[in-house]
Amino acid sequence: MTAKTGTDIELAAELIAAGKLVAFATETVYGLGADATNSAAVAQVFAVKHRPTFDPLIVHFDSVEHVRMTFRSFPEQANQLAERFWPGPLSIVLPRAECGFSDLVSAGLSTVAVRVPSHRMARDLIAKAGRPVAAPSANLFGRISPTTASHVVDQLGEKIDYILDGGPCTVGVESTVIRVSELSVELLRHGGITIEQLTSACRCDVIDVPKETDTNTRESRNTPMPSPGMTEQHYAPRTPLTLVDSIPERIPEGQVGLIALQPPDDSGAFSQVETLSNSGDPREAATNLFAALRRLDAATLDRIVAVRLPDEGLGRAINDRLNRAQHH
Ligand code: TXA
Ligand code: MG
Repeated sequence: MTAKTGTDIELAAELIAAGKLVAFATETVYGLGADATNSAAVAQVFAVKHRPTFDPLIVHFDSVEHVRMTFRSFPEQANQLAERFWPGPLSIVLPRAECGFSDLVSAGLSTVAVRVPSHRMARDLIAKAGRPVAAPSANLFGRISPTTASHVVDQLGEKIDYILDGGPCTVGVESTVIRVSELSVELLRHGGITIEQLTSACRCDVIDVPKETDTNTRESRNTPMPSPGMTEQHYAPRTPLTLVDSIPERIPEGQVGLIALQPPDDSGAFSQVETLSNSGDPREAATNLFAALRRLDAATLDRIVAVRLPDEGLGRAINDRLNRAQHH
């Protein structure tokens, strides 16, 4: 059975409330939603995605007020950032205390990541379902995140109950994940809110954890993975992908695809070229990233060459995804 795709928010909400799985559009990527308070439904999310149970889920709320009601001790620093960036592509890791969610949601951690999406349909769905919705990206574990309803159909259509079609995602990369303390904000995953935006909005240091704890230093310090989902290979097409600083003069043998911010001077040697933004706008590039990777992956190439963007603003999130799309 292939899941029905449509725009029936009432039906989607009823299904969530009944413990079923519904994929839904958010501004970042499509999520695979389940009632966060229902362990059987949450377990089904892990099963359908083939996701390891050590990788916790983000819980989605319809409003900042509902987050505050659920987490009575909402740290001041988190409050300030929530005021500034919610609804929007920011996930904040909070102590789980008595939040009432299934333990499976946070994979045994004492914390839980929460966010209020800005996509109107997503918030209507959560409000109508009358409960917070746990949702990872609606793709098979480790594969490319979906930014349209048909991407979800391709990977999960057979296994879920409904897909709430809210059109193509306008941000196109996942939310930024942060952990806050009184003294600092730790950025755990680059995403739709940039480190520059966070730095200008809070009065403390923003620590770029992925940069400071690359695999080597992490091993040498023997510290745990700050965010369990930051496995090195992720967002991966089936075709081997290599990330480079600039278009190579000699390209590898065989059928090679290129993914780059802007068109190359000479695209002749490549079998297929995907340009993320003709004008070089990283925002537009983020919106196009995952669909472009899917098109290249569908083109039966021997290799994909991806060119790194300038490492600033949304370029950081895009480079992070391309880096982890490499077959190590
Ligand atoms: O934009 C998004 O965040 C999308 C949409 C659907 O909201 N969701 C998403 O979920 O990307 P997922 O499951 O693909 O990625 C969640 C990330 C993982 O890297 C996970 O390890 C991290 O958030 N995470 C979740 N809970 C955490 C926690 N308590 N502490 C640290 N990291 C956490
Ligand atoms: Mg994901």
